[in-house]
Amino acid sequence: MSKSKFLDLIEEQRNLKIKEKFKGTFLDYLNLIEETPEVCDLAHRRLYKSIVEKGSNKIEESDPRYSSFFEKENVEIFNYFSDVFFGNEKVISRFMRYLKSASSKGEESRQVLLLMGPVGAGKSALVDHIKRSMESKPIYAIDGCPINEEPLHLLPRGLRSKFEDMLGIRIEGDLCPVCRHRLLEEYGGKYEEMPVVEKSISIRSRTGIAVVPPVDANTQDTSMLIGVQDISKLDLYSEDDPRTLTLNGAFNKGNRGIVEFVEVFKNEIEFLHTIITATQEKAVPSPGSNSMIYFDGVILSHCNEAEWNRFKSEHTNEAILDRIVKIEVPYSLEVDQEVKIYQKMIGMSDFKNIHIAPHTLQIAAMFAIMSRMEESQKCDLLTKLKIYNGEEVIERGRVKKIDVKDLREEFEREGMTGISTRFIMKSIDAALSDSENETITPISMMKALISQVNEQITDLHFRKRCLDIIKKIVRDEYLRILENEIAKAFISAYEEQAQSIFESYLDNAEAFTTNSTVRDRITKEERRPDDRFMKAIEGAIGITGSSKDGFRSDVTAYMFAKMRKGEKVDYTTYKPLKREIESYLISSVKDIARIVTKSKTRDDDQRKKHSEMMRVLIEDYGYNEHSAEEVITYASNNIWRDS
Ligand SMILES: Nc1ncnc2c1ncn2[C@@H]1O[C@H](COP(=O)(O)OP(=O)(O)OP(=O)(O)O)[C@@H](O)[C@H]1O
Ligand SMILES: [Mg+2]
Repeated sequence: MSKSKFLDLIEEQRNLKIKEKFKGTFLDYLNLIEETPEVCDLAHRRLYKSIVEKGSNKIEESDPRYSSFFEKENVEIFNYFSDVFFGNEKVISRFMRYLKSASSKGEESRQVLLLMGPVGAGKSALVDHIKRSMESKPIYAIDGCPINEEPLHLLPRGLRSKFEDMLGIRIEGDLCPVCRHRLLEEYGGKYEEMPVVEKSISIRSRTGIAVVPPVDANTQDTSMLIGVQDISKLDLYSEDDPRTLTLNGAFNKGNRGIVEFVEVFKNEIEFLHTIITATQEKAVPSPGSNSMIYFDGVILSHCNEAEWNRFKSEHTNEAILDRIVKIEVPYSLEVDQEVKIYQKMIGMSDFKNIHIAPHTLQIAAMFAIMSRMEESQKCDLLTKLKIYNGEEVIERGRVKKIDVKDLREEFEREGMTGISTRFIMKSIDAALSDSENETITPISMMKALISQVNEQITDLHFRKRCLDIIKKIVRDEYLRILENEIAKAFISAYEEQAQSIFESYLDNAEAFTTNSTVRDRITKEERRPDDRFMKAIEGAIGITGSSKDGFRSDVTAYMFAKMRKGEKVDYTTYKPLKREIESYLISSVKDIARIVTKSKTRDDDQRKKHSEMMRVLIEDYGYNEHSAEEVITYASNNIWRDS
């Protein structure tokens, strides 16, 4: 059964390949252009279309990121990127704007695109993904041409405008010396008979994609870019004979597609002059004494900020600078997006089956992002982090909301420095190799982060800042999250309990305000309002002394007014009360949580409570036994310390 299924698939794929690949003469190719003119699209346009075809969206205005990250701009989000890249939609949108204008042959098509940003910000990954998109559209080339050139170059200049009108296209570029030679020698000048083939662009086979790594000055040789003249062939052919050429440089191999310059400014400036001619004249020199060779391709490059600044400060580099479209690629400043990056990287690694306890990646992301942020005058680092993450922040005693735009404008370079994604991945590795049971938790994560900071960060000032962030801000925030989580896990049916406390408080507060008695819901006995109970709740958010009287009557009045209007009221209706009830619930279980989690020997009741809490942590919150044990121990040692 499955064998035949495999065979079907194989056959299907084979047929597809046979059917799709075009092979014919130049005349046939002209026919094809008449039917589908886009077969002769230039590189920028082919790339642009291949990405746009996958679709795009705009961010919904109801999405919190619309205000916090996109600053209410209708940024286009391209599907081709959105599954694999997170938090850099603005970078991608800038890139797409460049590509769009380049694809309509604007000045941009004569510019080099430069992605500039800190290490591990995703520059290489972005370029790789772009290159892969280029692979999705075939090209048509003169069969046997070493640079896969566009067959339209065969048309003599004198005929071009007629063909342009007839086919509704534009033709640019001249025949390469190798094809010119073949045309004359093998085809007697009958260009309509020259063979044309359809080819796939391929990163692996270096067809239409070339990568230029940085090379040191001594070994730098332009043959890497434009190919060489084969000296051994000079015995057979004259010096200007194209048969002596080996066109295997980056601009030859990358013709029709993409030439990528990795860490472009690590190269000598002389080396880079070929880039100028390639963009300016859309041609590169030929090795030996032949004429220039037409080049059609997207030039992508990347570098870090230090290299960029050094390069920019040199006067003599102006000619190149003028031909660069620079796009900054900063780190993410949004916790949620940063976490998605880690999840993606873990998914691609050997670690996909490890257990990662709740909040672990958030903790790491919080640290990374705070290390990238500048201290604001307007709020503390943690608040800023939450605002950037699109969370509603209501600060105690603060009425005016902080505008995210104001925060961003304070520091323009934010996101260009700090802890990299790679640093965090290394810390995750370290945490994991220390773990005995394939489990990492926020606690082992913080430990690993601290030791990585100590080992890897040599700048003492930055090291101290990082340690402060982890040991103070991140740790405190985690303890807060953990305390709430454990307490909630203790209170099974949390909401029900909250609701019953709410009803009971309301009964008592009403009786207190109206100077009457409360009827016990179970025993039906009439008794005086329970002052201790009310005080415990009020105390949870600091209402004490005489202010309690006012609070009680306020709550009663507010609730009964609502009920009279027929509105449904529950414990969440009145925000201050909701917070009180939650704090009360949490503080009321703290004791039991502490006792149960700390004691070595538990009585039956405690055992039951403990196992119920473990069940909630595991089944509802996503812990496993190891991680649940670990966070509980941590909580009892750090939150519920005996004092
Ligand atoms: N915004 C992002 N979305 C998804 N993945 C990301 C993002 N930023 C970084 N990454 C991931 O982080 C890893 C490191 O990124 P990459 O190697 O592309 O960085 P780089 O900018 O080229 O760094 P360097 O300057 O050190 O070469 C990659 O696996 C990449 O997929
Ligand atoms: Mg890189």
